[in-house]
Amino acid sequence: MNKVNNSVVTEFVFLGLSNSWEIQLFLFVFSSVFYVSTLMGNFLIVLAVTSDPHLQTPMYFLLANLSIIDLIFCSSTTPKMIYDLLRKQKVISFGGCIVQIFFIHAIGGAEMVLLIAMAFDRYVAICKPLHYLTIMSPQRCILFLITSWIIGFIHSITQLAFVVNLPFCGPNELDSFFCDLPRFLKLACTDTYKLEFMVTANSGLISVVAFLILMISYIFILVTVQKKSSGSISKALSTLSAHVTVVILFFGPLIFFYIWPFPITHLDKFLAIFDAVITPLLNPVIYTFRNKEMKGSMRKLCIQFMNYSKI
Ligand SMILES: *[C@@H]1O[C@H](CO)[C@@H](O)[C@H](O)[C@H]1NC(C)=O
Repeated sequence: MNKVNNSVVTEFVFLGLSNSWEIQLFLFVFSSVFYVSTLMGNFLIVLAVTSDPHLQTPMYFLLANLSIIDLIFCSSTTPKMIYDLLRKQKVISFGGCIVQIFFIHAIGGAEMVLLIAMAFDRYVAICKPLHYLTIMSPQRCILFLITSWIIGFIHSITQLAFVVNLPFCGPNELDSFFCDLPRFLKLACTDTYKLEFMVTANSGLISVVAFLILMISYIFILVTVQKKSSGSISKALSTLSAHVTVVILFFGPLIFFYIWPFPITHLDKFLAIFDAVITPLLNPVIYTFRNKEMKGSMRKLCIQFMNYSKI
């Protein structure tokens, strides 16, 4: 007897964000502008940190590494989305879908841990300034980095291990513009209740825990600053409120995707745009361009570039 191979689905079709040609055109322009700005902004940060000796501090090393993560993160879904916006048939192969899920979770997980490391860095700088360079030693920075990559990798692989061998026998339409687990699981022709629970437990838990740690550390910093001196509280408040905004924009949609107990709605497609397109650009803007040292370094880079292009 032949064993019937019921994995007949070899590619998935994205339904995209909208059927209206005008809205797709608008999204095409909007996403292209954001994507190009994200690439340039993050690339500039890496260039500035590696070339300017004034920026060779733990905070900037972590920032430059965050920029690298953002570059990879937004490149795992956005270029395909932009390309698809102009196509009628938006298809992705089964393998392509798995690769997207892998990258989203591995890089997203690494980003969460790195954001926590950066909050810790600010905590040490503000609350224990005299011990800053001993606590944030180069070895510890590298340790934070390696840990973040390892956690991201494990987080992603443990989920994928359960889903790569699922049978898919049609339909193959994903009402989204990229592959991610909640919708992907819904298409499998088997009971995926336990797997859905596993995704909520894994992705949901890591998002909520990272979000809570970040919020608690920001509150901790604020309380410490307030105790020390009343004058610097407004400055700390303005910096931290910017960070909290980024954190809410990044984690809000994620928590909504993985924890929201109600059936998937249209809303989450649009919320996904935040994580795919908007936060990778906000990170450089908020963490860096509001910062005097970084602005000076960027100015120097610009001047160098202009002199170079005159030759
Ligand atoms: C990332 O962080 C490590 C450790 O601090 C540092 O050695 C490396 O230069 C950083 N990468 C960039 C691009 O700055």
